[in-house]
Amino acid sequence: MCGIVGYIGTQAATEILLSGLEKLEYRGYDSAGIATVWEGEVNCVRAKGKLHNLRSKLELVETPAPIGIGHTRWATHGKPEEYNAHPHMDTAMRVAVVQNGIVENYRELREQLKAQGTEFRSDTDTEVIPHLIAAFLKNPPSTPNPLSPSLFLEAVRQVVNKLTGAFALAVISADYPDELVVVRQQAPLVIGFGQGEFFCASDTPAIVTYTAAMLPLENGEIARLTPLGVEVYNFAGDRLKKHPRVLSLNPTMVEKQGFKHFMLKEIYEQPGVVRACLEAYFDTNWNATQTANSPIHLGLAEEIYPDLEQIQIVACGTSWHAALIGKHLLEQLAGIPTQVHYASEFRYAPSPLTPNTLTIGVTQSGETADTLAALAMEEERRRNKEPKYQPRLLGITNRPESTLGRMVSHIISTLAGIEIGVAATKTFVAQLMAFYALALDLAYRRQTVPPARLEEIIKGLWQIPRDIEAILESQERYIEHLVHDFAETRDFIFLGRGINFPIALEGALKLKEISYIHAEGYPAGEMKHGPIALLDAKVPVVAIAMPGNVYEKVISNAQEAKARDSRLIGVTPVKEGEAAEIFDNIIPVSVVEELLSPIITVIPLQLLAYHIAARRGLDVDQPRNLAKSVTVE
Ligand code: AGP
Repeated sequence: MCGIVGYIGTQAATEILLSGLEKLEYRGYDSAGIATVWEGEVNCVRAKGKLHNLRSKLELVETPAPIGIGHTRWATHGKPEEYNAHPHMDTAMRVAVVQNGIVENYRELREQLKAQGTEFRSDTDTEVIPHLIAAFLKNPPSTPNPLSPSLFLEAVRQVVNKLTGAFALAVISADYPDELVVVRQQAPLVIGFGQGEFFCASDTPAIVTYTAAMLPLENGEIARLTPLGVEVYNFAGDRLKKHPRVLSLNPTMVEKQGFKHFMLKEIYEQPGVVRACLEAYFDTNWNATQTANSPIHLGLAEEIYPDLEQIQIVACGTSWHAALIGKHLLEQLAGIPTQVHYASEFRYAPSPLTPNTLTIGVTQSGETADTLAALAMEEERRRNKEPKYQPRLLGITNRPESTLGRMVSHIISTLAGIEIGVAATKTFVAQLMAFYALALDLAYRRQTVPPARLEEIIKGLWQIPRDIEAILESQERYIEHLVHDFAETRDFIFLGRGINFPIALEGALKLKEISYIHAEGYPAGEMKHGPIALLDAKVPVVAIAMPGNVYEKVISNAQEAKARDSRLIGVTPVKEGEAAEIFDNIIPVSVVEELLSPIITVIPLQLLAYHIAARRGLDVDQPRNLAKSVTVE
């Protein structure tokens, strides 16, 4: 995790670095710091906690330095204290380093440096790096590397070759005031090209205000940025030919646009996201008489499809919940047996190899280390096998330019636009849309769903944006009012069945991560096998009851909770009869068929979590201990 930003050019670096860090704070906010080079010295300022603490400190020591690096931290090694904040420096305070990721062999390197008399000022894995670079610069080899244009670059390259792990670095030195050296090894880093100025960052939003011309570094690459240009090398020191490309990112995408929080803005963007996905994935003019043409256009290469026997999906967190709904759709519509794995578990206990298997990695950021590692492992173990076991990897991501996008040959882009709130909302709904499209695409090709039914489902999907708008228009106020009753609540239970069970999990996760209330999502029928023991008048139960296969069952399970005095909140379109009698509160949603209902039922749960957290005065967009992009395993 953590966010890195760097600048070299003609402007004062400090404000550029701070504005970049603001856009990267979603990657971690335990501490922040920047280092600049000015008048032959490295000026390093760090502060515990959020960026505004650093900003206040910097007001006292701002310089016009035209080179600098910045960091926002999500603590891995060492407590979130100022002494562990980046940048880290060598003993003589000549070299400053910021790092994202983990140096796995840091203990061994730290012991070696300690044995040579180096004193450490932090508990981090990062601090070995400036000490090692400084040691190289102090005693350079008698025969310099003829291929390296600078001793500073050579020092970083030599040190990087001693490190194991997954990391990205930015390094400056008081003795090389015209050079910013950056490294990528399994953690994202992008270089931005301006006019006589260059940038680096862990993610594009940090620098998109300044330039759209970007070059994502690949693993094992090291770049030297000077006011004159950018040179890229591999770790062996060979110069590589690289060119930036222009990204179509709009800087206003990363503004709140009048909403109190990014999360609320992103919840409100969901009707537009669903429309964008429908327009991109579906043929708007298709009807059941056009059986010769597919209604779905995902643009995937044909090699994905032949003889498909199995699908396995790897993902984490909210993306894993989307994958569970994906499994339901792929099995029920396309008839393909599908397994869903936590990426972090799959890597160490993969299922036995099955033939003709499509492996799907779902990750909104495209940078989640567990998901990338699981996919890499799957690729590797299938690579030299007979044809039917060969890897077929598909990524579903909101960031096609991410590491995932460059790692797999087939991608479905989820078209949600950049999501800043740490709690995923619009990207989840977009992932669901990708799964509807993929399942229907496969169903059409395999003829597992009759054309008339395909047409009915697609028509139903086109209604969804309007249904989401209706919930936002009519229910947000109600939910805002309802949460007054939960000021002291410490536990929540969410119940769903069938295709809405993953929505119960997602509702519980949203509430946990932003309100810090303990919440559990359960398949409604499982409650009686244990969790019912938790229930009493202090534990509200939210039940998702959509008409269809399991409606009566969910109502019965909700009755069981009612009998234990739980306050019952129903997410259901049914307002009369049994539902009206048992639910204490109903958050009404439109009548949609059960198969499509998760895209609707998740909306009230997002709003419930948002308003509970906002009412408690919590930091909705940057909840404690979390980071948006989890780039460590
Ligand atoms: C979602 O609200 C969470 N912040 C988290 O569970 C997230 O979904 C998970 O870390 C996976 O992220 P990814 O989709 O970028 O891989």
